[in-house]
Amino acid sequence: MSESWVNSAERIGADLHLELSGPGGRRAALIHALRDAVRGGRLAPGTRLPPYRSLAADLGVARNTVADAYAELVAEGWLTARQGSGTRVAERAEPPRHAGKVPGKTPPRARGPRHNLRQGTPDVSGFPRGEWLASYRRALQQAPNEVFGPGDPAGRVELREALAEYLPRARGVRCDPDRIVICSGFAHALRLLFEGRVLRSPLAVEAYGLPFHRELLTRAGVRTVPLPLDEDGARIDRLGRERGVLLTPAHQFPTGGPLHAARRAAVIDWARARDAVIVEDDYDGEFRYDRKPVGAVQGLDPERVIFVGSVSKSLSPAVRLGWMVLPERYVEGVLAAKGEREAWASVLDQLSLADFIARGSYDRHVRRMRQRYRGRRDRLVAALAERAPHIEVTGVAAGLHAVLRLPPGTEAATVARAERAGVALDGLAAFRHPGAAEPAVAAYDGLVVGYATPSEHAYAVALDALCATFPDP
Ligand SMILES: Cc1ncc(COP(=O)(O)O)c(C=O)c1O
Repeated sequence: MSESWVNSAERIGADLHLELSGPGGRRAALIHALRDAVRGGRLAPGTRLPPYRSLAADLGVARNTVADAYAELVAEGWLTARQGSGTRVAERAEPPRHAGKVPGKTPPRARGPRHNLRQGTPDVSGFPRGEWLASYRRALQQAPNEVFGPGDPAGRVELREALAEYLPRARGVRCDPDRIVICSGFAHALRLLFEGRVLRSPLAVEAYGLPFHRELLTRAGVRTVPLPLDEDGARIDRLGRERGVLLTPAHQFPTGGPLHAARRAAVIDWARARDAVIVEDDYDGEFRYDRKPVGAVQGLDPERVIFVGSVSKSLSPAVRLGWMVLPERYVEGVLAAKGEREAWASVLDQLSLADFIARGSYDRHVRRMRQRYRGRRDRLVAALAERAPHIEVTGVAAGLHAVLRLPPGTEAATVARAERAGVALDGLAAFRHPGAAEPAVAAYDGLVVGYATPSEHAYAVALDALCATFPDP
């Protein structure tokens, strides 16, 4: 096999001798050689690797061979890839012999899963750094001095005005800026509403949902009552004497369907009849693919629904910004729960987001990411159709995750098998309300696959690894 000095010194900092030998093809040999070079310390953490084309030319291999080898090593955690800064040796890929021995050096962190298909994260490599920076710069330049004083608990008026234009247009929400309170995401909204005693127990919740939210409610002293789900979404007819209901109507989390139109009307009727409130979690409402947009239930009756949205799926969960659109009677209580000053959401971030929305950057970003996620979703569906046709894919018309239906009784074993193959994902059981007893709630076996989580170059290998975990029927 070929042997070469990679003499792209200006790009990788040092010449590197790579020997492509050993069993398997060139791709395997290159992976082996690069891994060895990192492990042996010849490629130091942070070192930039040559572009595919140069290394391919140096080694006399195809460009795709290099691209595949890099992608595999990124997926394994040896390398990292970032748009604009190329492929580098991961900081934590330090040779073990140095671990903890060099004074002042931090020992390497434990490596994450090789293929992360856990739902919950957007493709963080898609964060619009340039446009966000431009908005931040403009916001900072144009901010009057009073901005740098204590923040208003309702949030900056610039952001509330931008949202009052965006939410009706994009999500069918009815609102004006006085009804909007900025918060730092959905979890914060729940805290304000329930720890702040704006809303009372008991609260009906969908039988499948995010355990983190249920735990937060329990800690706030709220009793949650599981509401069964079927193919039309939450069983509104099962609502009883609860004071409110928490729903994900645009895209049930995590099972994936929209709430049927008749049930959207029925839940409003229930809230009116019982003087109850609906908390609408619109966590990924912007990402819809095949079906017509599903507007917010809030649009049906803004005095019965608290609409909550956040940038966690659309932009990044690290930004920590969200919004509540409130019925008039709750505005004061929520502001009181926030306290006299803004204690959570940075005013500079609020102004940046206001600019980002007002200039159309938010719309552009959502459109871009929608395209990307639709492509990911299509690749997942195609890969399964080809390699595991007995697995039914559901909940794919919207959102950033899909649910793969499994034969009854096979979920736990499939999750464990995936884990052994380095694929991180969750089974549906992880999201089930502990009080959701049969036969009130139809339980089925399934895997929740977050197809947005891996970065673009790691997705193909992650899909491969996923498909390989399904045994033939
Ligand atoms: C069901 C659900 N609701 C809401 C959110 C958003 O939470 P937050 O805004 O607190 O990040 C998420 C995660 O992004 C979610 O999975």
